[in-house]
Amino acid sequence: MTKILAVVGSPRKGGNTDLLVSRIAEGAVTAGAQVEVVRLGELQIRECDGCHACWKGRPCSKKDDMLALFPKIAANDAIVFGTPVYWYGPTALLKAFIDRFVYFNCEANRPMIRGKRAAVAIVLEETHESTWRPVVEFFEKSLAYLEMKSAGTIIVPGVGKKGDILKHPERLEEAYRLGARLAGSAG
Ligand SMILES: Cc1cc2nc3c(=O)[nH]c(=O)nc-3n(C[C@H](O)[C@H](O)[C@H](O)COP(=O)(O)O)c2cc1C
Repeated sequence: MTKILAVVGSPRKGGNTDLLVSRIAEGAVTAGAQVEVVRLGELQIRECDGCHACWKGRPCSKKDDMLALFPKIAANDAIVFGTPVYWYGPTALLKAFIDRFVYFNCEANRPMIRGKRAAVAIVLEETHESTWRPVVEFFEKSLAYLEMKSAGTIIVPGVGKKGDILKHPERLEEAYRLGARLAGSAG
């Protein structure tokens, strides 16, 4: 059974990212996957300060909720990264989460992330591509660096207020299908 960790990088519970990631999760569960949704807004994840204890075989020096997420990431086959655009980038929550992936940038830990599939879900209020393009490139470059395999990206522009995404059922349907694909595709 495919195991998926679905990460909501917005602090707004029940907001557009939450609804989009939850729809991906529903598609995956219906297709037979086991999905755990993690809301970063409910966790404490501090910044990576580059001490590189993790590269020297020691546990991460930041004793926070990321310590429980490292083994979860390793145990899952795929990760969904969801974030709204905040100032032409991902949220601080999502950025802090990814910063801590430095943990996987050493020979001993790299096998825990290499080859895992990743789906990206981005929402934003503006509608111009130049607003979401930097966020897409942030994920493309970071996931390639981590040797993860892209399984698809959904971008939903024009959603500002909480729940606005419900006015775009076709995008939620697309999210559902992405979840099903994520559950079904092997390796
Ligand atoms: C601090 C902050 C910064 C934002 N920056 C942008 C931005 O640069 N461009 C944009 O289109 N929307 C921006 N937004 C709007 C959010 O992307 C939009 O409201 C989104 O739907 C929020 O998703 P959520 O409901 O999952 O939190 C910003 C919102 C906040 C709170």
